[in-house]
Amino acid sequence: MNETLNVIAERYSCRNFKPDPLSGETLHAIAKAAVQAPSGMNRQAWRVIVVKNKALIEEMDALGMEKLKAWEDKSFYNRMMERGGTLFYGATAMVVIALDGKQPSEVDCGILCQTVALAATSLGIANVICGLARVVFEGARGEEFKKRLHFPEGYTFGCSVLLGYANTKKAPHEPDMNKIIVVE
Ligand SMILES: Cc1cc2nc3c(=O)[nH]c(=O)nc-3n(C[C@H](O)[C@H](O)[C@H](O)COP(=O)(O)O)c2cc1C
Repeated sequence: MNETLNVIAERYSCRNFKPDPLSGETLHAIAKAAVQAPSGMNRQAWRVIVVKNKALIEEMDALGMEKLKAWEDKSFYNRMMERGGTLFYGATAMVVIALDGKQPSEVDCGILCQTVALAATSLGIANVICGLARVVFEGARGEEFKKRLHFPEGYTFGCSVLLGYANTKKAPHEPDMNKIIVVE
């Protein structure tokens, strides 16, 4: 295996982060990898927002949990409560991907998330892709957080990746080789 394949094999979703902050240099390297991701027709119809303010992340976390609690379907809230009662698992940094919404960019956004996850893993930084963060950016309070995170006008939440040092590590999931179909 080469270095890239090792990093792909090592990546796992971390759901328990240490409070230690990441350096600006590390976050810069991860952000640069993000904007090196490919996109359809090289549209790059995104903004890569790097949030390093732990207090702001905690504020968004609290709002997200409040919103999940208010949902009729309590399964998401209950799952997060079982995982420690936080939406962001104590992450000290977060990459939020904002999309311009005019172009079909879900695939671009997914590739960007995985690029961030792999870049972070390669630097020894634990991470988890967090789609549920979308609840923070919904409704009136959502608009407030879009402004505070400097979403350009009209941009919507695409996805996010939580970052930090792992407090507890997890083994990567077992690859299911039965999912592969080879056509000779
Ligand atoms: C698009 C997407 C959204 C995700 N959203 C969340 C999320 O909101 N919260 C979470 O804890 N994990 C989230 N995950 C992580 C998945 O649950 C995780 O990748 C999956 O269980 C496989 O585990 P692994 O990443 O450790 O291999 C998300 C993953 C993807 C690809």
